[in-house]
Amino acid sequence: MRMPLIAKAAVLEIGIYLFIKLGMPLFTSPLPSSVISMYMILVTISILLYVSIYEDDYGKFYVPITSFIRGDEHDKPGRKMSRVAVLIMIPLFFGFRTYQNVQPNFEPPFPQRVIHPAPPGSAAGFVNPYGDDEANHEKYVQEGRDVYFRNCVFCHGDKLDGKGFFAHALNVKPANFADPTTISMLMESFVFWRVKTGGIGLPEEATPWDSAMPRWELILTEEERWKAIMFLYDYTGWKPRTWEMEGDE
Ligand code: HEC
Repeated sequence: MRMPLIAKAAVLEIGIYLFIKLGMPLFTSPLPSSVISMYMILVTISILLYVSIYEDDYGKFYVPITSFIRGDEHDKPGRKMSRVAVLIMIPLFFGFRTYQNVQPNFEPPFPQRVIHPAPPGSAAGFVNPYGDDEANHEKYVQEGRDVYFRNCVFCHGDKLDGKGFFAHALNVKPANFADPTTISMLMESFVFWRVKTGGIGLPEEATPWDSAMPRWELILTEEERWKAIMFLYDYTGWKPRTWEMEGDE
């Protein structure tokens, strides 16, 4: 006996679904379920279009459905029971799907990036060698300005606001030192650690987006790095956070 048209359509529909759901992930990453449903709606419409183009196919396709739902005098015993079962199952199925959708989802939508992660223990020991030299402070700041405009300006910008030439191409955006949430609330030793080891030096919790901040210990001397940091504070007018301020809170 040849397979009824409606069974062929069902096999096709289920086959395509299983291929997308289970087969595709073998080659690429799994598709989101909303994309799968959209695709399956298209597949269903295509199959219905196909069967409705030819009138006799059309009949063969729909007659089993309508006679199942409507029932007729040739009804085999048990037909009625299965009809009732199907009519109960359809609303139950949609009710269950809706229930699943409105369940609160406790997974975070994406991992949070920690902007100021805890530095490694060794970073606490960095002390600015020029910090106490008030007499030459201005000179160091000027030297730091040179370092900044030769190295940092491309990303952090000429106003230190994180809007350098490269900034629009970067995600994570370069830090905006004018903003009160960056160097103004950090200790100098922390800032030094960040300039020293850059994006590469950040621990796991500072991902998933990778920072383009270069690892300046490979490029600048320790003196140049400290002077650049002095310039950052001098230009923006912020004071680095200190241990005394910790007590204020
Ligand atoms: C290639 C682009 C680029 C250059 C050049 C660059 N930075 Fe950065 N920098 C970044 C990005 C992006 C971030 C933000 C992500 C992060 O915290 O690593 C950042 C963050 C920082 C931070 C951390 C601020 C905070 O709030 O944690 C400091 C400090 C810093 N940069 C200093 C400098 C200094 C000093 C220079 C020059 C010697 C420099 N940067 C050059 C891209 C750059």
